[in-house]
Amino acid sequence: MKTLMIYMASATSLFCSSLMWSGCTLDEVSEEPDPQREPVAWMFEHTEDYLAASPTWRRERIEQTLWQAELGYSSKMLDGYGLEQEGWELLYAYDFPVQPLAATEAPHVRTLEFEGMPLLQNAKSKFGDDPTRWTQAQWQSFGEDVFWQMPMRKDNYFEWLLGQPELWDDLGLSVDEMGNLRGVTRYRDIRGDVQVGMSCALCHAADGVQGRAVERLDLGMARAKFRESRGLEADVYAQWGAGKVDVTDDDVLDPMAIPNLWGMKYQRYFNASGVIRVETPASAAIRFETQYMMNHGYEVRAPREYTWALAMYLYGLSEPDSEPMSDAAHRGEEVFGERCASCHVPERGYSGDLVTATALVGLDMVAATSLDRGTGSYRVPSLIGVGEGGPYFHDSSAKTLGDVLAGGHPMGGELDEDDMSDLILFLKTL
Ligand code: HEC
Ligand code: HEC
Repeated sequence: MKTLMIYMASATSLFCSSLMWSGCTLDEVSEEPDPQREPVAWMFEHTEDYLAASPTWRRERIEQTLWQAELGYSSKMLDGYGLEQEGWELLYAYDFPVQPLAATEAPHVRTLEFEGMPLLQNAKSKFGDDPTRWTQAQWQSFGEDVFWQMPMRKDNYFEWLLGQPELWDDLGLSVDEMGNLRGVTRYRDIRGDVQVGMSCALCHAADGVQGRAVERLDLGMARAKFRESRGLEADVYAQWGAGKVDVTDDDVLDPMAIPNLWGMKYQRYFNASGVIRVETPASAAIRFETQYMMNHGYEVRAPREYTWALAMYLYGLSEPDSEPMSDAAHRGEEVFGERCASCHVPERGYSGDLVTATALVGLDMVAATSLDRGTGSYRVPSLIGVGEGGPYFHDSSAKTLGDVLAGGHPMGGELDEDDMSDLILFLKTL
């Protein structure tokens, strides 16, 4: 059931409306893919808008995205992004030379010979010099490289951890089939120094499955151990817990669960508190772009091809296989229709809008009320792939689907035992 919106390039639109449509031929009216239902096709159509030297189009997109402009996070982004001749527009777009890091080489990374190739230049040598002429598949293939290799951030404690192989397994670092550390990227920074960074894959590709949250990864503990080794106070980091990261640099302890990324294509909001409204897929690309600049101390920006490709690739990510339907699961689907579907909308990958946080039982209020990102609400996440396993909720407070429901989610109503087990069987088919 595709809905296609008819749209016209603005010049054509002026011309056509002045002739009251009579002068318009079909060539002048093009069909624009629906940004929610066909995100990859929509992005493909808008590549030149996003890459354009003039920031006007990007500015309009970020203003749509950050719907609560006064929040700390939003105002910081709005102060710097997409402005004419100022702010982050002036940063140099640096194409990072990158190279994987073999586990055996990790402890002495700084003394190794570096042979990395710049990511974008490498893609251009494969797909052609002008990215606006790449195919959709080529964009997605580049996005996959970016996902695995772009240095999303660098931290002293992380580099320290690479020198402590005896801690890796406990803290959830893993080695892939090639003998490389998964999600770790070696790169040359703008000053010419060789560094190690985390790529998206470090947190979002458990066992090499793209999009799967790395639940074992305990970066808080890594940071605590690093601080202890320096004689510094470390308690607050030791409390994050595996699979969670405190993404805000404030004094509040509010580590968030690393989410699976399969549901992303359905979600109208990002972050548990819904601070980012995904009006179009450009909202995702802009989030990656700003996150990137923030993590690199606003020293350089990534070429926009990186973040556009990354979003196109993630919007095309397929979901894991789920359990087949059974009679019991069909009964569970009915229960779902009565009790859950008003929020978790089936046609939207079982995701939904925002719900006032105080209306939900059993959830921590911290993320909904933080000065930086608190909207007073929680967004309804997609349930695609929930059968893959917990923990659930933005703070990982429920270990299993049984725990989600036993806690009375969403508003405290109890289900009887049969309904509960049928419902869980249905959730596993999603
Ligand atoms: C250090 C671990 C870590 C790394 C590295 C990381 N993420 Fe995340 N990601 C998280 C956490 C934790 C959250 C949840 C908190 C939030 O939304 O800010 C998150 C949230 C997201 C979301 C929002 C999903 C939703 O449903 O709200 C997207 C999309 C995402 N990450 C994509 C990426 C991409 C793309 C990269 C690489 C550019 C990346 N992440 C790198 C940990 C990480
Ligand atoms: C009033 C709206 C609402 C209703 C009704 C609702 N949910 Fe939710 N659900 C939410 C919100 C909001 C969250 C996210 C909470 C958070 O931020 O952790 C959520 C989270 C979940 C999660 C965790 C997803 C994850 O990946 O962490 C599951 C599973 C879930 N709901 C299942 C159900 C089931 C089953 C029902 C019916 C019994 C239901 N929900 C009814 C609003 C609702």
